[in-house]
Amino acid sequence: MTEKQPQNTENAKRAVGEAAAELVTEGMRLGLGTGSTTAFAIEAIGRRVSEENLNVVGVPTSFAAERLAREYGVPITTLDDLARSNPSLSLDLAIDGADEVDPALNLIKGRGAAHTREKIVASLATRFVVLIDPSKEVAQLGTKMPVPVEVLPMADASVSKALRELGSEPVLRMGRSKDGPVVSDQGFWIVDARFNGIQNPAELSSAISQIPGVLDHGLFIGMATDVLVGEEDGDVRRIRR
Ligand code: A5P
Repeated sequence: MTEKQPQNTENAKRAVGEAAAELVTEGMRLGLGTGSTTAFAIEAIGRRVSEENLNVVGVPTSFAAERLAREYGVPITTLDDLARSNPSLSLDLAIDGADEVDPALNLIKGRGAAHTREKIVASLATRFVVLIDPSKEVAQLGTKMPVPVEVLPMADASVSKALRELGSEPVLRMGRSKDGPVVSDQGFWIVDARFNGIQNPAELSSAISQIPGVLDHGLFIGMATDVLVGEEDGDVRRIRR
């Protein structure tokens, strides 16, 4: 878990995490996302592995997801190992959270700085199921959250200049329990680019990807196949592309 949640938010996250775990069937290759909502899904999948002897394997999207999978007993693998047994390198189901979801099911992700690996894993999945509580639903992306951009440390200034030219206010993300910048699982830095509303997310996604020094960013365009919205009363609303 990332930080203490209000009880009703925690109920919503737990409900949606458990609903996601119910989508898992025998033999599936899974993508295991990062964040406080997906943590409930990983916990519930682990329970099914132990109680039902379910045979699955997961690719974690971060050190955090890897640690949770080990803690809850979900078998894990790497893309490298998976490619040896499964040359098509496809995952049956990737499960992950999001920071914003728009009506077209485009996303902003990366509050936890894991969006680069999350995008790689989601791109290999036949089904990419996104788990949120209602506070993540927005009419337009970029209205509440910045777009996290993972950058090569020496390119922080030049990437920030380019992000400013694209209309955002970029801020280097600083550590809370560490002096200096947040360092991603890849050893890169995170620049949070605040746009105050994104008119054309697909166009912006391509533009940010083309900036030299950018590893990847948190706009996920046309990737989610399903969104599960956990309500505070424990109901789960399902939206399918
Ligand atoms: C990790 O970098 C993020 O993309 C998370 O998946 C996203 O921030 C959702 O996290 P929560 O479920 O904790 O809100």
